[in-house]
Amino acid sequence: MPNSPLNQAALNQLFLEARTFNAWQDIAIPDELLHRLYDTFRMGPTAANSCPARIVFVKSKAAKEKLAPALSEGNRAKTMAAPVTAIIGYDLHFYDQLDKLFPNAPGARSWFDYDAQVAFTNAFRGGTLQGAYLIIAARALGLDCGPMGGFDNAKVDELFFAGTQVKSNFLCNLGYGDVKGNYPRNHRLAFDEACSIA
Ligand SMILES: Cc1cc2nc3c(=O)[nH]c(=O)nc-3n(C[C@H](O)[C@H](O)[C@H](O)COP(=O)(O)O)c2cc1C
Repeated sequence: MPNSPLNQAALNQLFLEARTFNAWQDIAIPDELLHRLYDTFRMGPTAANSCPARIVFVKSKAAKEKLAPALSEGNRAKTMAAPVTAIIGYDLHFYDQLDKLFPNAPGARSWFDYDAQVAFTNAFRGGTLQGAYLIIAARALGLDCGPMGGFDNAKVDELFFAGTQVKSNFLCNLGYGDVKGNYPRNHRLAFDEACSIA
């Protein structure tokens, strides 16, 4: 039997009525919910099950203050106010984990580790996909999201990923949103503007 489509309320929560949030209610996110979020979104697919995303959940006041100087002016106040800010990074040496993650193809690391550009392409593509899975999983768990690209990547890498091969991709504020901070909803492209059926 094929799966049934999700009901309308679920589709609304994940996509059709979900918004990008800029203001946050004063409700904390327990660490257990961050674990549940990871345990949910990590099941989304990546090439050779390479799972290149690496996440720092910035939650403590000290960690938030460390992040603050790397943020663009327009993103700073709302990020400081968010209960948690996820730094979604990708590990350029993700292939070190492949023996464990993809045992059905021994030597799969050789598909990636021979060329830094090939490794980057897979790390960035898979890490970005996993960032998107994180957003949808967060919404499925009742959280709201505020993704952001407006920050100094090099500074975040220095502050949070020094001594590693992990690079930052984007940030995502997490919490229970306050609709008072929302911008008006913008149009999306129509099917014929973005898609064709070949
Ligand atoms: C990768 C990414 C980067 C973004 N960067 C920023 C940002 O730096 N600052 C900001 O205020 N909004 C940022 N946004 C928010 C988008 O403008 C917003 O998600 C989009 O307009 C859709 O809004 P809606 O979900 O409310 O319809 C970003 C969104 C994504 C997914």
